[in-house]
Amino acid sequence: MRVTIITKLNLFYFLALSFARSFSGNEDVVKRYQFPDKFFFGTATSAYQQVEGAYLDDDKSYSNWDVFSHIPGNIKNNDTGDIANDHYHRFSEDIEIIHSLGVNAYRFSISWARILPKGKFGEVSQSGIMFYNKLIDSLILRGIEPFVTIHHNDLPQELEDRYGSWLCPNIQEEFVYLAKICFENFGDRIKYWATINEPNLFSQMAYVRGWYPPAHCSQPFGNCSAGNSDKEPLISVHNMLLSHAKAVKLYRDEFQQKQGGFVGIISSTDMYEPLRDEEADRQAVIRALAYNVGWALDPLVYGDYPLEMRQYLGSELPKFSPAEINILKGSIDFIGINHYVTAYATDCIHSACASGCDRPIQGYVETTGERDGVPIGEPTGNPKFFIVPRGLEKVVDYIKDRYSNMPMFVTENGYSPPVQENEQVKDLLNDVKRIEYHNAYLAALARAVKNGANVQGYFVWSLMDNFEWTDGYSVTFGLFYVDRQTLDRIPKLSARWYKNFLTNNTSQIDGDEDLNTNQNAIVSLLESNRLEEI
Ligand code: FCB
Repeated sequence: MRVTIITKLNLFYFLALSFARSFSGNEDVVKRYQFPDKFFFGTATSAYQQVEGAYLDDDKSYSNWDVFSHIPGNIKNNDTGDIANDHYHRFSEDIEIIHSLGVNAYRFSISWARILPKGKFGEVSQSGIMFYNKLIDSLILRGIEPFVTIHHNDLPQELEDRYGSWLCPNIQEEFVYLAKICFENFGDRIKYWATINEPNLFSQMAYVRGWYPPAHCSQPFGNCSAGNSDKEPLISVHNMLLSHAKAVKLYRDEFQQKQGGFVGIISSTDMYEPLRDEEADRQAVIRALAYNVGWALDPLVYGDYPLEMRQYLGSELPKFSPAEINILKGSIDFIGINHYVTAYATDCIHSACASGCDRPIQGYVETTGERDGVPIGEPTGNPKFFIVPRGLEKVVDYIKDRYSNMPMFVTENGYSPPVQENEQVKDLLNDVKRIEYHNAYLAALARAVKNGANVQGYFVWSLMDNFEWTDGYSVTFGLFYVDRQTLDRIPKLSARWYKNFLTNNTSQIDGDEDLNTNQNAIVSLLESNRLEEI
């Protein structure tokens, strides 16, 4: 007993100390009142089988990820999403934990293979529709706004087998059909639709590197059995953007007026800084931003790809017809910003670079997380993600300027700790670093909002630890820990912090106080349980 108390106190002291240390730096302690009253604060997940599991329940067919994850060697530890967090069966419990956070929004995605097991070639699955109806209704009953992503990486394997999914224009009509089924069945209650998650990052992973299904790539990017890393990413994004535009046209023509919702797209949005204080590297930053952010967003606002892409990719970059330009232009009501990466960019037009970066598909830019051996920020569980809160502020400012400050939502931002050998559950639960991360990124976002950025929401990735694509379950982004044996969801310290942040409009930890006072404040905060139990 005594031992437990001492350990507990030590733990509190340790937590408090590291917490206070980080807040004694130049990051502010963020407060809820720094954001508008109507701001959406939420958490995010995605279907495959990042959380849903139940991979063959009811009518669901095999998705591309079901097939891919079953091939030995594709996923770390040969994990699969067959069961994942079994959210399909435990969604009621999950809504309770979402509600316990005090959030007013939740972002999830639709599993295409669950509601259209054979795409347009088969029936609509009523069990699939029923599942999402129950999910949506239960969220609304709790006062939580559902933000729905129609497509987030997973599609029926049937569409891959029949015609190569995103490489074939046929996919556009398939996607529009999926969107139509969603608008018809859920649109009376859904006000925020995102058509597709991260076309830009997805195409890098699936068609440049070959890490995601259909695992296409070519040298020097990788050693795949099929693919062309210089061309296919351009074709797949082209088809995704046209799919988006056609689905939005349908929504606007037939649903928007009576349903009154908004449609956007979600982009992976990385920020870059010049590696060297030289003009060539400053130009590399401009190109990197155009190739990353502009690639997916420029066509939807202006009707064409960024000039920098046209300039370097020439005839490889597909062209839009006048009719296509017409439906693309102005086809988003908001921009979804997924942000994890700030990196240095260096020029590969005039200087030699790592293999692959000296090609037009990469914009003749090499990006790196290190300058002279010093990382750009603290490392995390993903070798490309460093903690650089200013990156979020900068990328929001960039998007604000480039797209006339249209409504924006930070649809994903989150932290996974570096993976340790023999990791202890208690260490994962006492995730002080994640608290520091969200505090610092939210403080950066508050600065952008104060400077006029029209950001209307922020979603923590993720509600709970889940299947992190090729990393399987080894990388953990959740506010809730998931016991892989029992699938119990256990709140981490960060879940309590998020609730505390959301429910107390004045912070109990004053960032201006000195270190000692701060330590005391945090110790008493933890001991008196003012970071309420969930
Ligand atoms: C994003 C994905 C999301 C998750 C996070 C960590 O790119 O949209 O599903 O994998 O990264």
